[in-house]
Amino acid sequence: MKISIIGTGYVGLVSGVGFASKGHDVTCIDIVDEKVDKINRAEPPIYEEGLEELLKDVVSNEKLKATTDTGKAVKETELTFICVGTPSKQDGSVDLSGVEKAVQDMVQPLKEKDEYHVFCVKSTVVPGTTEEKVLPILEKSGKIVGEDFGLGMNPEFLREGIALEDFLNPDRIVLGGWDENTLKVLSEAYGRFQVPKLKTDIKTAEMIKYTSNALLATKISFANEISRICESIGIDVYEVMDGVGLDHRLKRDFLNAGAGFGGSCFPKDVKALVNYAKEKDQETKLLNSVLAINEEQPVHIINRLEHISEGVKGKKVAFLGLAFKGGTDDVRETRALPMIKRLLELGADVIGYDPEASENFDELLPGKIRYTDSREEALEDADICIIQNDWNEFKNLKPKDFEPMRGKIIVDSRRLLNRENFTDDLIYIGVGV
Ligand code: UDX
Repeated sequence: MKISIIGTGYVGLVSGVGFASKGHDVTCIDIVDEKVDKINRAEPPIYEEGLEELLKDVVSNEKLKATTDTGKAVKETELTFICVGTPSKQDGSVDLSGVEKAVQDMVQPLKEKDEYHVFCVKSTVVPGTTEEKVLPILEKSGKIVGEDFGLGMNPEFLREGIALEDFLNPDRIVLGGWDENTLKVLSEAYGRFQVPKLKTDIKTAEMIKYTSNALLATKISFANEISRICESIGIDVYEVMDGVGLDHRLKRDFLNAGAGFGGSCFPKDVKALVNYAKEKDQETKLLNSVLAINEEQPVHIINRLEHISEGVKGKKVAFLGLAFKGGTDDVRETRALPMIKRLLELGADVIGYDPEASENFDELLPGKIRYTDSREEALEDADICIIQNDWNEFKNLKPKDFEPMRGKIIVDSRRLLNRENFTDDLIYIGVGV
């Protein structure tokens, strides 16, 4: 099948490479020449595990190419996925300008095309957007939905860092379609995926994406709330959640207490859903609390440290992990930011280290902290060490790794370390224990 994909961010490019590896002929479209050239040279403009290798394969056997020419790509294919970014506006609502611009570029080719074509939104958009915002733009072509073209919505559930693996081996595929013809084309695109496929109307598909992310975020904030109770009574929230998670109705996943959720999806999508509900005159007491707990949690960790260490003023803090999670240089909504801001307010001297994210983090807090190129250097003479994300190099740290420190306090805000290894020499402060 001939597929075009507009937008070559991690969703668009990963989907393109994934579809091409399943035998489809894929054309990726982007407005940035440099990205297009890179893709055609089989160099991924972003890092995702396994992407470089698979991109090489599909470019060399001519299953995938990239272009800036939307018109030609739409005309030469049967199905177009819209995968451009939908960032948050100041008020939490979704900024649709990228999607609208991309769809606008498809009006002329649709007008000139004689064959049936399906347009499918993959970008995360609130219910109603595809039919109320995208469709009217396409209709400017004079063509009729349901006759000349189809309209669909197919949400993605890709985790950054392992997006290719998530694309190739999903738990499920959700296909929202205007009509049976649209759903037939979308099902064909996913023909080689042997997983449950749920076919719905377009609004339901849009809502499934927001609801999934909101429930995952809720599980995390729930675990963080319970973790504070556990801390106050001296028991371990991880053990509690292990017990809870054995009930088949309550999966253990995403019940890991920590510094809260960051990244490009959870905070943005929960805020967008809250904002959308408000527009529909609906209250979101639970989701408001999910967001509030997520804001409090990083500050709670630092306040607890301040209490146990009898003040952090003037103390040197080695801060390990600046990205929102390990394995990425992405600092969007990273919990490192509120944690470090609180440390600075309390007068600490912060030295940051992250294998990939220092440069990006410095843009969030220009010149406010120092950075090192290695973990060892950050720990040298530090009074306190705080681990914020789950890079592999932090996972197996042993008490001896902290020997170069001057002080004794280790804050494990993702519960990576085996606390039983820590004896009285070092004070281990784990979230939720
Ligand atoms: C998420 C969703 O998992 C994915 O389905 C969606 O398409 C995009 O958003 P991502 O943002 O890449 O993916 O990261 P994920 O690995 O899900 O983690 C999100 C945040 O939650 C991270 O900050 C992580 O540290 C935190 N988290 C996750 C917890 O604090 N506890 C957990 O139990 C799980």
